[in-house]
Amino acid sequence: YRSQHQPRDNSMGINLANDDALRSLASAMNATAIGQWRAAPLVPGANPTGELQPVTNPADRREVVGHWLPADAATVERALANAVAAQPGWDATPAASRAAILEHAADLLEARMPQFMAMCVKEAGKTIADSVAEVREAVDFLRYYALQAREHFAPIPLPGPTGESNQLQLSGRGVFVCISPWNFPLAIFTGQVAAALVAGNTVIAKPAEQTNLVGYAAVQLLHEAGIPQDVLQFVPGDGASVGAALTRDPRVAGVAFTGGTDTARLIHRALANRDSGPIATLIAETGGQNAMIVDSSALPEQVVKDAISSAFTSAGQRCSAARLLLVQEDIADKVIAMLAGAMAELKVGDPALLSTDVGPVIDADACQVLDDHARRMDSQARLIARTPLPPGTEHGTFFPPTAWELPSIALLDREKFGPALHVVRWKAHELDAVIDAINATGYGLTLGIHSRIDATVERIVARAKVGNIYVNRNQIGAVVGVQPFGGQGLSGTGPKAGGPHYLPRFATEKTVTINT
Ligand code: SER
Repeated sequence: YRSQHQPRDNSMGINLANDDALRSLASAMNATAIGQWRAAPLVPGANPTGELQPVTNPADRREVVGHWLPADAATVERALANAVAAQPGWDATPAASRAAILEHAADLLEARMPQFMAMCVKEAGKTIADSVAEVREAVDFLRYYALQAREHFAPIPLPGPTGESNQLQLSGRGVFVCISPWNFPLAIFTGQVAAALVAGNTVIAKPAEQTNLVGYAAVQLLHEAGIPQDVLQFVPGDGASVGAALTRDPRVAGVAFTGGTDTARLIHRALANRDSGPIATLIAETGGQNAMIVDSSALPEQVVKDAISSAFTSAGQRCSAARLLLVQEDIADKVIAMLAGAMAELKVGDPALLSTDVGPVIDADACQVLDDHARRMDSQARLIARTPLPPGTEHGTFFPPTAWELPSIALLDREKFGPALHVVRWKAHELDAVIDAINATGYGLTLGIHSRIDATVERIVARAKVGNIYVNRNQIGAVVGVQPFGGQGLSGTGPKAGGPHYLPRFATEKTVTINT
């Protein structure tokens, strides 16, 4: 998979330390029509009916930022029929032409960064810094998969030792359903859709119910860039009705899903239970119970900086986020004291303010799960720190960044998706047992290591069953094409997003042998 093309540059984003850049960003964000945003099915020939649903700002539920219309059953049916009919024509379009459309979409998206950032802030509660990263990642996915398609979807000549000519051709599988999460409403949404499209599939995109506005705007932009309306359709709705109707339908050849592990199992089951249709492909990227292992050679200041970043950036709502900080006992008191001090300095609040470190969580249900967890931890573990919520946050869905010290990893059950960190001490002879305990959770997404001893790092890397390992840095923010991202076990099926093996999974392979 070595690239035959020029090195690819990632999107630069916006320099938040530059006053001029900030002023133009602020004026562009203020000029967007917050409150007027709309999302509705984009399905040629359908006339969706139903009631518009309000979308409120997670930081202040009194603010309605837009409305969306769910797809009804007839619209879902129409989308499937359209997608089937359009697929052969799209698949026959040269991969280079499909790639060129993605590259055009990347340029459009980069030019409209402030408008998309405003939506990420107001619909998903993302901070300004997270919103810049969100748009950059979406742009990177578009350009990276375009480049990959140019390389891999041209016919590949094979050796002909018997005098025959052999060739490998890749083409789309058929109709792909892309079900994306609210925590990366633009980046992961765009990444899934772009990969499926450029591989020659027609796509039905169903975003998480919480972030339809961003998804709708992204699909409109892709249409403007040149993706035909029946090749990419937008079908919003809840998982139980629209998601279930799509995944049980035998016309669907594959599903790309990012979200919870339980939902991935439901989708897997729905695809497997179909009595007809192809044996469908499922590409699932799910959760993690991610740990950061710290030994006594680590630098406590660096550990705390990276633990804070890994656990609390994006209000801990990243599948890569650190949930467990495992510290060798020799330096544990020092690390814990510094962690408490640093958490007292975190600013929780309105993500539209540049000074905010931690914004809201996505909705009231998420808050409830975290509140229940906090009650259990408060009674079973020792509280290290709980960053106070400032006045004003009572109107939004906020959960205070919290850290507890636990006697054992076994006290944790499932992934808790929010700003909650759990610290456990370990003794020098327990290193292998610590790694085994992490592996035993069944999740395998990210792992942080802080150590200045090469042999320790190598030992952990060799033993840990995870997808992404970060040594002596934070463990979030994988960069497209540089740090291919995705896990194993309960954390996902692979292949890794933003990596060289992702696109071929969306394709079928045809070997052509000609006796010359
Ligand atoms: N790709 C994101 C990260 O690396 C998580 O989904 O943080």
